[in-house]
This record gives sequence, structure tokens and C-alpha cells, in this order.
Amino acid sequence: MFKAIYLSKDNDTFKADLRDLDDAALEANTPGADVTVDIDFSTINYKDGLALTNKSPVVRKWPMVPGIDCAGTVVASSSPGWAAGDKVVLNGWGVGETAWGGLAQRGRFRSEWLVRVPAPLSTRDTMAIGTAGYTAMLACMAIQDAGVNEGEVLVTGASGGVGSFAVAILARRGYRVVASTGKLQEANYLQQLGAAEVIDRAPLSAAGKPLQKERWAAVVDSVGSHTLANACAQTRYGGVVAACGLAQGMDLPLTVAPFILRGVRLVGIDSVMCPVERRIEAWQRLAEDVDRSRLDTITQGIALADSFDAARKILTGAVRGRLVVDVNR
Ligand SMILES: NC(=O)c1ccc[n+]([C@@H]2O[C@H](COP(=O)([O-])OP(=O)(O)OC[C@H]3O[C@@H](n4cnc5c(N)ncnc54)[C@H](OP(=O)(O)O)[C@@H]3O)[C@@H](O)[C@H]2O)c1
Repeated sequence: MFKAIYLSKDNDTFKADLRDLDDAALEANTPGADVTVDIDFSTINYKDGLALTNKSPVVRKWPMVPGIDCAGTVVASSSPGWAAGDKVVLNGWGVGETAWGGLAQRGRFRSEWLVRVPAPLSTRDTMAIGTAGYTAMLACMAIQDAGVNEGEVLVTGASGGVGSFAVAILARRGYRVVASTGKLQEANYLQQLGAAEVIDRAPLSAAGKPLQKERWAAVVDSVGSHTLANACAQTRYGGVVAACGLAQGMDLPLTVAPFILRGVRLVGIDSVMCPVERRIEAWQRLAEDVDRSRLDTITQGIALADSFDAARKILTGAVRGRLVVDVNR
């Protein structure tokens, strides 16, 4: 038996609880999976918050074990690529949405979804980084791929998971990072991560002009809506804006002016279906770039049973950094 968060729907009534499951239930609900993993850690991401509270249709198969990312040790594998004892990290691929996920002590996954934990990271480190840090790295890679290697970079939603890692990674790579936040009381935290300047998010959150004073060489945005529109309108000629999220809203009230008059490039960042080669590169770069001594500043550890409270909290934007779930606590 193992413990898992279990989401079910009975006649349209949603239920979320922590329960004991057996391996037969796991096997029956994970068709196509060929690797069994004893999970050490998972996390609570914004999307997990939506799934655990049934706030939007993240879960598309019932019953569901949520958790869009996890890390642990392979205990059994019928795939030649993996053997008992291998340390693996997993995120995306619909895990926690259409396939049973990581908020459990045990999971069964498709071998092609797994990435080896790169040295010197531990399984806990990979979940301290989690989908948020990995998404931030994909955004940083997109900025570098676009040829922007220096200058001032705006990070929105800076105190959140994606934002915190974007600040840390970009600062370490030598950009001047400006962190936009609704939590000015977290200015010290953001400066510790490497922000050169911390600004109030309010002006960026309101409707703005189609073209504004040019400032940013690049932007990492996890907020969407007016914030993303203003970020595009303030991006310098030839700059790049990496769109990662929708914490303010899914809408995008902007004009084509930044693109056709300033050659601004808007790049979409998707962590879920990102090809495996790009994932391996992102995790490798995280292993090289992330200062492990900073991970404790960014993360708070919680127990599996705390996931429900944490899910409600993350949806209010009240969580600083990352929540790591020790599924065995
Ligand atoms: N593209 C992908 O593959 C991918 C992967 C992971 C996450 N995401 C998305 O990226 C976003 C951030 O994820 P996360 O895990 O970092 O979530 P998070 O920890 O909740 O961070 C989101 C941050 O956005 C800011 N924010 C919240 N509500 C806002 C509002 N109404 N207006 C403006 N700013 C607001 C807050 O930061 P401040 O208080 O500092 O302003 C909050 O901490 C989410 O939308 C998530 O779904 C996408």
C-alpha cells in the first residue's frame, strides 16, 4: 500500500482526499506505463492548485492522482532505458491531468517521460526547482536562442515559482534583472536572488498604450493579460518576450505595433510537451547554473497532507517561491 492524493468525481460531485492505494489500483489506472517509481518529492504548482480545488478543468480523466511533477527512484522497469535504483525526474506530458501524477508515494510512468537526475542535484533539489524552475530555464534558453545575451530583463510575477527562478538564473548569467511584484515586502528576497531593482507590478497590470518608452532587452512573463501587453510595448527594438503563464489572465489586449515597428519577438514557452532533448538540456543547465545553496531560500517543505491548504494558498498568489512536498512525511 502507498499514500496518494486522490481526486474523484461522483455524479459531478468533486472529492479530494488522501488515501491508501495498492499496486493493483496503480497498474489498472496507468495504462502504457512501463516504469514504477518510488517517489521522494513532488511540488505544488499553480496548475496543481487548480486541480486540487477543481477550479478549472485541469483534470481530464477520473479518478486522478494529481501532481504535475515528481522525482524519485526507479523500483521496477520493463524498459531497457531504466533500471532499479535510477534517480529520475518527471514533469509535464499530461501527468496529473490525463495520467496519474506525483502527489503520491508511488507512481507508474512511461519510460520516455523520464529524465535522469543530473549531478550534482538530488531528487529534492529537482523538486525545489520543479516545473517552475525548469520553465524559467526554458524561457532563459529562448532568450539566449534569440541572441539577447545582455541588458535589462524584466521578470513579472517575480516572487512566484517561475519568477523566482527566472530572477536567479538570469542574474547568474549577467543580465540586469528588474523584478516586478505585487509583494514589495519581498524586495529583500528578490534582491537576494539577484534582482538589481524591484518594481511594483501595479502600473504594468493596468491597461497601457500600444507603444511605450523602450526599456527591456528581454522579458520573462508568467502573468499574461495587460502585464504581457505592457511588457511587449516597453521592449526595446529587436528584443524578445518569453510568455510563460497567465496568473493575471489568459487575455492579451495588445496591438501588433511592437512587432511590426520594433521587431519585438514574442516566444511561447511550453513545458508540458517540450521535446525530450530540450528537457535534458534544460535540466543539465539547471544543474550547472542553479546555486544549490539558494534553494532553501526559494523553497518551503510541506507534507503530503498539507497539499490541500497549499493548493488554496497558491491560487491567491500568496505563496513565495516554491512548495516542495515530501510525500513520505
Ligand atoms: N508555460 C508553461 O509550461 C508553464 C509552466 C509552469 C507554470 N506556468 C504558468 O506560469 C504562471 C506562474 O506559475 P508559478 O508556478 O510561478 O505560479 P505562482 O508561484 O503562483 O506565481 C505566480 C505569480 O504571479 C503573480 N500574480 C498572481 N496573481 C496576479 C495577478 N492577478 N496579477 C498580476 N500578477 C499576479 C504573483 O507574483 P508577485 O506577487 O510577485 O507579483 C504570483 O506569485 C502560472 O500561470 C502557471 O500556470 C506555465
